[in-house]
Amino acid sequence: MNVGIIGGGTMGSGIAQVAATAGCKVKLFDTSQEALDKAKAGLEKILLRLIEKGRMASEEKNRIQANIRYVDSLKELADSDLTIEAIIENIDIKKKVFSELESYVSYTCIIASNTSSLSIASIAASLKKPERCVGIHFFNPAPLMKLVEVIPAIQTSSETLEKAIDTIANWKKTVAVAKDTPGFIVNRVARPFYGEALRIYEEGIADFATIDYSLKTIGGFRMGPFELMDFIGNDVNYTVTETVFTAFYFDSRYKPAFTQKRFAEAGYLGRKSGKGYYDYTEGATKPTPIKNEVLARGIFDRVLVMLINEAADALFFNIASAEDIDNAMTKGVNYPKGLLAWADEKGINWCVSKLDELYNEYHEDRYRCSPLLRKMNREHKTFF
Ligand code: NAI
Repeated sequence: MNVGIIGGGTMGSGIAQVAATAGCKVKLFDTSQEALDKAKAGLEKILLRLIEKGRMASEEKNRIQANIRYVDSLKELADSDLTIEAIIENIDIKKKVFSELESYVSYTCIIASNTSSLSIASIAASLKKPERCVGIHFFNPAPLMKLVEVIPAIQTSSETLEKAIDTIANWKKTVAVAKDTPGFIVNRVARPFYGEALRIYEEGIADFATIDYSLKTIGGFRMGPFELMDFIGNDVNYTVTETVFTAFYFDSRYKPAFTQKRFAEAGYLGRKSGKGYYDYTEGATKPTPIKNEVLARGIFDRVLVMLINEAADALFFNIASAEDIDNAMTKGVNYPKGLLAWADEKGINWCVSKLDELYNEYHEDRYRCSPLLRKMNREHKTFF
């Protein structure tokens, strides 16, 4: 299969590696020669490290590298069966690139976008044949993260969707099919992990270290919310939250937190700037959490139930199947358990009571219980 990748930055170079490893002939296009050189050198480094660790033979490295050509003209992608675009997140620029691309490729070529926040329908609308457009959303780093969300737009044909799903499954990735709605699955369902943790902090219930401690020790999350926000970058994470909040017509459930906005404005971006919620400068000591079982359990329960509510609501609105929603969170963001399976384990009644407790306390729409959870509770049903 001939695969064209447009944009050789963080995501494009990772996707090129995935496709080349699976045996596809890849052409990676970028308008910046510097980006292409960086992508090529980056791949060399990654593959050498895999050889050093004994996880790859040198013939395999040669095979992967021989499968990728770095090209400086969009026209070179003319013989592609599939193209995946991973350029700057700007609808006008994407639309321009898509309509130019369509003038070069064959009638049957699938034209996909790796966008995180734009609607696939709006991108597809730039094409003469919009039914060939689909969202194929990888997670960073693409070679390591198992999950890929596949997003049909209202224009997407069933043939395009099936081909996209088959191809990504052949690339040894787990596919979750998601509706073309803001944040798709992961970037929507994960919002309370950050938002509720920030809210708990803003109310003065606990500090960053104690909240992180609670989610890690009681919940088994690999990173606490503040560690994770520092890892992602407070600028990037804040922007995603604000985009989702705006795209959902300002639903208060997704309301961004002033704390994170101020951290981003101050340049306390996290690991990449050396300071975020924690200090990453050399010799800095990490603050000690308060190790109080009752407090930790209270914090964990509150974040978990908000995550469960979001996952349940995503199912209620048919964003994806229950299996895909759970797979998305365990394989896209490494959650220790699927949220719907977790709801079953905790009990639907527990979820509803906990949410109602929060709602009765705050009288904020943010804590409204999903109608699906309420209905399931009445009917004594479980998700699986
Ligand atoms: P990036 O900034 O690392 O790379 C973008 C690349 O596109 C740059 O090398 C740039 O030179 C190139 N480019 C810009 N305009 C171009 C054009 N007109 N034609 C060809 N190349 C062009 O960006 P990144 O992080 O790789 O993101 C790319 C896309 O993937 C965005 O749509 C983003 O929303 C999405 N995405 C990003 C994730 C992340 O964690 N960084 C995760 C999943 C999706």
